[in-house]
Amino acid sequence: MDEVLARIDSERDRSISDLKDLLRIPSVSSRPDHSADMARAAEWLRARLEAMGLETRICETPGHPIVYAEWLSAPGKPTVLIYGHFDVQPVEPLDEWSSDPFEPVEEGGNLIARGANDDKGQMFTHVRAVEAWLSETGSLPVNVKFLIEGEEEIGSPNLPAWLRENREMVKADVVAISDTSQFGPGYPSVCTGLRGIATFEMRVKTGQSDLHSGTFGGAVPNAIQVMTDILASFHTPEGAVAIEGFYSDVVEPTEEERASWARLPRSDEQFMREAGTRSLWGEPGRTSIERTWSRPTLEIVGVTAGHQGPGHKGIVPATAVARFSTRLVPEMDPERVVRLVQSHVAKRTPPGAEVSAVCGHGARGTLIPADSKWVQAAKRALAVGFGKEPVFIREGGSIPIVNLFQGELGMPCLLLGYGLPDDRIHGPNEKFSMADFQSGTRTNAALLAELAAL
Ligand code: BES
Ligand code: MN
Ligand code: MN
Repeated sequence: MDEVLARIDSERDRSISDLKDLLRIPSVSSRPDHSADMARAAEWLRARLEAMGLETRICETPGHPIVYAEWLSAPGKPTVLIYGHFDVQPVEPLDEWSSDPFEPVEEGGNLIARGANDDKGQMFTHVRAVEAWLSETGSLPVNVKFLIEGEEEIGSPNLPAWLRENREMVKADVVAISDTSQFGPGYPSVCTGLRGIATFEMRVKTGQSDLHSGTFGGAVPNAIQVMTDILASFHTPEGAVAIEGFYSDVVEPTEEERASWARLPRSDEQFMREAGTRSLWGEPGRTSIERTWSRPTLEIVGVTAGHQGPGHKGIVPATAVARFSTRLVPEMDPERVVRLVQSHVAKRTPPGAEVSAVCGHGARGTLIPADSKWVQAAKRALAVGFGKEPVFIREGGSIPIVNLFQGELGMPCLLLGYGLPDDRIHGPNEKFSMADFQSGTRTNAALLAELAAL
């Protein structure tokens, strides 16, 4: 083990330079014009895993390809499935980046590029850990399977069907995922919960086409007015979600979990600093940790309506579109939430307007029991990799497929995230600490040894 860790340290520069090659491929899954880049990123990973001595294949789906690889020469030992994603979010607004998002730069101990953290950088810590074991010892302490998909950022639309078809191939005792964050610098973390999600597109139509605002304004319905009235009705003035029944399935965290969160050093000031805001907002009577980890929320994410170009235009707009999403706690059924939202919208649709709210994608949240032997092994691995006892956290984000792994496929998941809350994932100047890249790689290497001992 020590030799493997030493090798990880000594091969740092080459690892970072290899990761940069992957980061240079603009694998944006939501953009059809990047589909060749998706194929290129998949092939890059496949070739890399093949060169390390794994058996590999590219699996085509109706969408973007999946990279699968395996090393199964540890009979009698557990099998770990390593899941990650090589697709990234779009980079716009480009002018807010201080360097090219697909030309990684090192600055202040960080690697800056789209995907540096989410999830190329984090996923690559597993590739590197396995590589270090293989090149140092010629084998692995456990059986390893890699499943690296290209559609996580668009809700993993094709992965469930593919997993059901390839159930035997991907079967494992435990799933390891590095696609979350640490609580903060110096707080290596085991994540025990993710929120679910349901996304919506709401279309409003009040007439056939835009009208002259002098002739008709103030005397006929305005689509933007209808839309903003409905959007405003989603929350109480105090900040709770006002959709009837929205909170009815929510289960409070245990006393023990709440007590452990209360011990975490997170001040409102620090949270605002990470967010870059000057105030907090949300459900009354809840801390920011509770609001993001154990309470459901609703966020308006985009509005397209009315006059956008330069100057003024005297119109009564006839159509408007809004996008919003709900983040759900694990107990909440996304399909039920869709029905609640739709009936809320229907009740607030004024006469003469047509309003539809259609769900884009939905996924349940996840809870991971902290006392399982798998989580305890992960905890020990983090202590080895970071030289510090980890804390237990949840996260407010979503990884849609985790629920299928844990539920239908019966495979417990481990969320070992090495990012930081201010890494600006999905935003401009996304970063990842190269020291955490190294500590994460050491943790993953130690994890394989810890799992072998179970
Ligand atoms: N890695 C994130 C999930 C995440 C973010 C976990 C922050 C913990 C903290 C993942 O790539 C992601 O962005 N997920 C999407 C899922 C959606 C597209 C269905 C999300 O959370 O919005
Ligand atoms: Mn991710
Ligand atoms: Mn993401």
